[in-house]
Amino acid sequence: MFFWMKKKTMSASRSSPDRIARHIAALPRSGIRDFFDLVSAMEDVVSLGIGEPDFVTPWHIREATIYALDRGHTSYTSNLGLLSLRRAVCEYVAGDFGVQYSPENECIITVGVSEALDVILRALLNPGDEVVYHEPCYVSYAPGIRMTHGVPVAVSTRESDGFALDPAALARAITPRTKALLVNFPNNPTGANLSQEAKQAIAGLAIENDLVVITDEIYSELTYGARSPSLAALPGMKDRTVFLHGFSKAYAMTGYRIGYACGPPDLIEAMMKVHQYTMLCASRLAQEAAVEALRNGRREMEKMRTEYRQRRNVIVRRLNEMGLPCVPPEGAFYVFPRVRETGLSSHEFAMRLLAEKQVAVVPGTAFGACGEGYIRCSYATALDEIEVAMDRLRDFLAGL
Ligand SMILES: Cc1ncc(COP(=O)(O)O)c(C=O)c1O
Repeated sequence: MFFWMKKKTMSASRSSPDRIARHIAALPRSGIRDFFDLVSAMEDVVSLGIGEPDFVTPWHIREATIYALDRGHTSYTSNLGLLSLRRAVCEYVAGDFGVQYSPENECIITVGVSEALDVILRALLNPGDEVVYHEPCYVSYAPGIRMTHGVPVAVSTRESDGFALDPAALARAITPRTKALLVNFPNNPTGANLSQEAKQAIAGLAIENDLVVITDEIYSELTYGARSPSLAALPGMKDRTVFLHGFSKAYAMTGYRIGYACGPPDLIEAMMKVHQYTMLCASRLAQEAAVEALRNGRREMEKMRTEYRQRRNVIVRRLNEMGLPCVPPEGAFYVFPRVRETGLSSHEFAMRLLAEKQVAVVPGTAFGACGEGYIRCSYATALDEIEVAMDRLRDFLAGL
């Protein structure tokens, strides 16, 4: 064998086990991704699987984007984001969430809540720091913590508590290594919300244990009952809370990739460092569209919420009628019915429903091990599609 060939073979075999960073190689693939690879290869599927609005971004927001493009607004912006957007965000957060932030140094515009979450975790965590969060939850939380060298510590929420976070369970998960709490209400995938009393108890634990609280409030506009104050608004919490929010869900702007974080100046400054060296800034066109959404988007947003509420009522009634009990969602656009009594695992249930009746739902285990026995159905789907999916689901259950 020629010398150069031998060298190449040797280096390929030596490099393969170490080629990918260990903490990335150890991450599981998202269960949702595998499942939807399957769905996309099938025909006549009614999907209750997607976690994004089926509405197109309201026209006035699209028009503002076109207008910005027309004026040649295609440059970078300040790392923190357009001052006009930060002002609009801070006004909105003050009015709707009751927390005053300075657009100068307490607000940063990010590429969705996704980037805001990554950046705050990177800014906060030293290797081995623990972050307590609750499951079932958004699929990115545990991997996001691991990717920033933290240790995810899950607290299960239970159907018997309406999937709200039990402060006593949270208290048991806190150790001297806990650096932060990560909470998301209204919740993906359960639709649960938190009462003011629960939030107060969680705030008390954060203060007592000197923790930073990251609150992902991306679904807060899509709340169907009374909205309790943000954790950031409770006494003693503003200085230790990072409030994450964005435009993807309430304004149907998922593809714009735009969100923000508000918090105390030292945390926003630390986030800014990570953001400036990685993302630099969010898209200027998306930022201008977001200003329009905040200035003039309330009516369209409320129309979408009314539609989601109507769909929620239908899907909850239909699921209960066919014997799949579910906690009525208080927010977001998901319902999390119990399928345990069918004798199928969540995964088997979802796979068979897809194969036999061409209805896509997500197995509850995609959102954490305690999601076993449940499935997630999204009602960000037209009402007639929901009715068809419910008919097929009823027939599926009848055939079991
Ligand atoms: C709870 C939660 N947080 C964050 C995100 C991501 O939001 P964005 O589109 O702003 O990155 C999602 C998307 O499904 C979500 O459900």
